[in-house]
Amino acid sequence: MSAAPRPRIRPRRLRQSPAFRRLVAETRVHPADLVLPIFVREGVDEPMPIASMPGVMQHSLDSVRRAVTDAAEAGVGGVMLFGVPEVRDARGSGATDPDGILNVATRVVREEAGDALIVQTDLCLDEFTDHGHCGLVDDRGVVDNDATLERYAEMALQQARAGSQLLGLSGMMDGQVAAVRDALDEAGHTDTALLAYSGKYASAFYGPFRDAVESTLEGDRRTYQLDPANRREGAREAVLDIEEGADVVMVKPAGTYLDVLADVAATSEVPVWAYQVSGEYAMIEAAAAHGWIDRRRAVAESVLGIRRAGADAVLTYWATELARWITAGDTE
Ligand code: PBG
Repeated sequence: MSAAPRPRIRPRRLRQSPAFRRLVAETRVHPADLVLPIFVREGVDEPMPIASMPGVMQHSLDSVRRAVTDAAEAGVGGVMLFGVPEVRDARGSGATDPDGILNVATRVVREEAGDALIVQTDLCLDEFTDHGHCGLVDDRGVVDNDATLERYAEMALQQARAGSQLLGLSGMMDGQVAAVRDALDEAGHTDTALLAYSGKYASAFYGPFRDAVESTLEGDRRTYQLDPANRREGAREAVLDIEEGADVVMVKPAGTYLDVLADVAATSEVPVWAYQVSGEYAMIEAAAAHGWIDRRRAVAESVLGIRRAGADAVLTYWATELARWITAGDTE
């Protein structure tokens, strides 16, 4: 009778207890690594629920103060503001109006937040255009890259004046980082930082976001957002954006583009972030609501996986809640 084989090498040793596992964990999520996207809607007194994003609100200029205070108290690193205007037009005029909802909200949030976290703003026209595109559309129905850059430059100036500290360039126009950087520098806003959505893919997972900002899109965004089939192209966009002066680059969505994220993180000279988008949020919430998945564990694991793939920080609609769980030690 031969003895049972005795493995000499036992990886299970380091997994045997919570204390061992904590000591050898390769990746951690800290509240400061999280950024909370926030929607602020024009002309409402009360926060309004978003049907496809249970738990997320369109805030009023009043209720947004509380959301920001809660995030800061939880230790969240920043907030990313999106405006939901009452009126839209072809040029997205509300985006460059100092009294437009996003610019007004930025002033309110900066005042509320002080130095507790970094106030960031979405720099894109789609929330403000009636056709729903991220840029100006010419008479052939094509999104005009270079004409759009002028709008972005003007939008950047208004956002910087309103107090935004980090501008999120999410429109995917060629040359947008350089155009915005030059405009800001010329006007003396040399300290306003730029987050480039470099690898932003034409994704079905933005679906609930359209609900959140009440935008209806004519056509699709495939002539400017990246083709989900392309891995190399995401890394190339990040290189171009860094050359143009991006302070941070981003990959978006996160969960279905972890390979792109890992590629960018492997070579980037600047911080690399990822955006866990509305559809990623909605999927976990829907499964959890059915009792098909453990909500807290699924949320924590989804963000941890994005960090593990290489994101230095993660934009997630769960930022405040997850930060509280982390601080309480409730994520295991
Ligand atoms: C563009 C923008 C979008 C999102 C963030 N910035 C929409 C889009 O490009 O279609 C999506 C975010 C999400 O789905 O959570 N302003």
